[in-house]
Amino acid sequence: MKLWIKHIAILAVIVVAGGVITVVSGIVPIAASSPHWPITKWFLEFSMERSVATHSIEIATPDLDDAALVIKGAGHFATGCVQCHGSPARGPSPIAESLMPQPPKLSDTVSEWKPRELFYIVKHGVKLTGMPGWPAQNRDDEVSAVVAFLKTLPNMPRAEYHDLVFGDVAAASDSVPSGLQHLVTNSCGRCHGVDGVGRDGVFPILAGQRKDYLASSLRAYSTGERHSGFMQPVAVPLKEQQIDALAEFYSELPSPLGDAIASEPDGVAAGNPNHDSDLTGQQIAQSGIPARRVPACVGCHAPSIAGNYPLLNGQPQDYLAQQLNLFKQRVRGGTKNAHLMHPATERITEQQEQAVAEFFAAE
Ligand code: HEC
Ligand code: HEC
Ligand code: HEC
Repeated sequence: MKLWIKHIAILAVIVVAGGVITVVSGIVPIAASSPHWPITKWFLEFSMERSVATHSIEIATPDLDDAALVIKGAGHFATGCVQCHGSPARGPSPIAESLMPQPPKLSDTVSEWKPRELFYIVKHGVKLTGMPGWPAQNRDDEVSAVVAFLKTLPNMPRAEYHDLVFGDVAAASDSVPSGLQHLVTNSCGRCHGVDGVGRDGVFPILAGQRKDYLASSLRAYSTGERHSGFMQPVAVPLKEQQIDALAEFYSELPSPLGDAIASEPDGVAAGNPNHDSDLTGQQIAQSGIPARRVPACVGCHAPSIAGNYPLLNGQPQDYLAQQLNLFKQRVRGGTKNAHLMHPATERITEQQEQAVAEFFAAE
């Protein structure tokens, strides 16, 4: 063997042995109470930036200029991010400030990242730092909402942040039973409104929804059987009695969820066009698409039908269309009845989903 190869081999053995001895001896400090050496800090930050840049290359940037996405993302930021990162309204918790690395103040740092990189960080988190991944990995739509909000964060005035997160929640809080005051004003009401009507059509309406459906949906979120990074963290800490009380409270509020739709096909709806694409939302809702074995929606969703079926008429169109899409991709999950929706969504087109969502939203 050539002499230099031999020398390199000996050196390599010494380096490896030195590394093993250093680790086994336990002298490397892992204490979060003292900062990294500057070289270690630089190395970790550089590796993280490179990893995020490389892994996010394939991510197509979704359209983020949508006020509804920003409101949704802000709502969740107040649930799941402020503890560590602080917000325009308050600093982070002292516990989070004792993490190493410390969670950065995002209003100062987000503009350094491309939207696709933020998407990657929020969806997957960062190993060994405390930065968590998204609780519902199949809900990219929710991750996009958080990214849309993050993009608006630099220089956001405190009052604007407050409006985005809370809407007019404080104004209506007297109407809530005393046992639920705290929950409804600090949690549910921020997104669904204290009156249960949602905010600007962004969140599903809870007011007047069937009590059993509200309760079973909250239970499905809390067990993870219905997937949502927004709702799972909110539902998990709820006690059984709180779920029942919340379902009762919201189901009894005055509701825009109308009872206008007829449960039987009417003359106009029962037509039989030559092409599926000519079907109107009303026809699909009331007669289904027999040729493709898509059942009539009103067979389950009409207000006159008893059962644990949600009322749809009057819900925001975007919410209905989004839920149909989630069912179609088999990622919505839900209560033990959720599978009943699969035949209804497997064989309808996106255009038909929109049409039927528009029909129910307008009722
Ligand atoms: C338990 C604490 C914790 C929570 C909760 C948390 N983060 Fe983080 N986050 C961190 C830490 C720590 C880092 C720093 C990671 C690093 O330096 O590599 C970080 C980094 C980030 C970054 C990269 C910023 C930068 O400039 O390095 C973004 C963006 C981010 N978090 C967004 C969020 C969002 C959005 C949420 C809520 C959905 C959230 N984080 C929740 C701890 C947390
Ligand atoms: C951060 C905003 C936010 C908060 C806070 C919040 N929700 Fe939600 N909620 C949502 C979103 C977004 C959805 C739709 C999630 C999905 O796609 O499954 C939802 C869905 C629901 C649903 C299912 C509605 C349906 O028609 O299927 C119920 C029930 C519900 N929330 C109740 C509550 C209650 C009760 C609270 C308080 C304990 C609460 N939510 C707090 C945002 C929120
Ligand atoms: C066989 C009964 C049945 C039929 C037919 C049916 N659905 Fe459903 N649908 C359900 C059930 C049950 C749920 C609630 C799933 C859960 O509990 O998680 C649901 C949920 C939904 C939701 C989500 C509502 C919410 O608040 O989250 C939408 C939107 C929906 N259905 C639309 C439709 C449309 C449009 C059709 C017709 C193309 C249809 N459904 C046909 C049983 C049915």
